[in-house]
Amino acid sequence: MNGSLLFAIDGPSGSGKSTAAKLLARRLGLGYLDTGAMYRAATSEYLARFPDGASQEDVARLVEEADLVCETSPETPRFSINGRDVTEAIREPRISAAVSEVATNHEVRRLLTGRMRELISAHDRRIVVEGRDITTVVAPDADVRVLLVADPDARVARRAAEVEGRATEAEVTDQVLRRDRDDSTVSNFTDAAEGVTVIDSTFLTPDEVVDAIIELVGD
Ligand code: DC
Repeated sequence: MNGSLLFAIDGPSGSGKSTAAKLLARRLGLGYLDTGAMYRAATSEYLARFPDGASQEDVARLVEEADLVCETSPETPRFSINGRDVTEAIREPRISAAVSEVATNHEVRRLLTGRMRELISAHDRRIVVEGRDITTVVAPDADVRVLLVADPDARVARRAAEVEGRATEAEVTDQVLRRDRDDSTVSNFTDAAEGVTVIDSTFLTPDEVVDAIIELVGD
């Protein structure tokens, strides 16, 4: 019961990874870490501190000095940065639009990867971690490594349901496809690395996705 049970789940925006990762953590009584939220929290602080833009070095320093608190319970995955709770604010479209700028900063990636690894250790590797480079960079030694994919139409429909009424379908389509392009410059999350299992969630319910992931334990 107390052995390592580290799940690494990568996938593009709208692939259903947050829903599945949270459900998986709840079912197995594990911690849950949304690494995209860490990049989003850093972006929120960056926009607050440097409304007119900043150098790569300034952004990296901001992240290095930031007091970033990540709650790792699947029930209340709250995030705060420098004492400011940003859990809701990081979902705003202005953050989604700017996050790639922060996520393409190599020093920021190195720093946040270090924090992710600290959180994994603090949980004795009993945690579900989701993102874009978890199976490849953050935790290539995870016990279960999954790349969750879904058809672009299904991903757009899911995002549209999430932001219901706050964005038009055209805006959501643009956001999902543009973010695929931007994100692909930081990590290759469309092809599975060796040893990573691809699960296509297009026609699966969240519970079915979790069943498929749990089946991989001990493989
Ligand atoms: O999963 P998300 O949409 O909340 O992620 C927000 C952004 O953070 C996304 O544009 C890509 C980036 N990201 C990353 O580069 N590496 C990760 N491990 C997680 C997210």
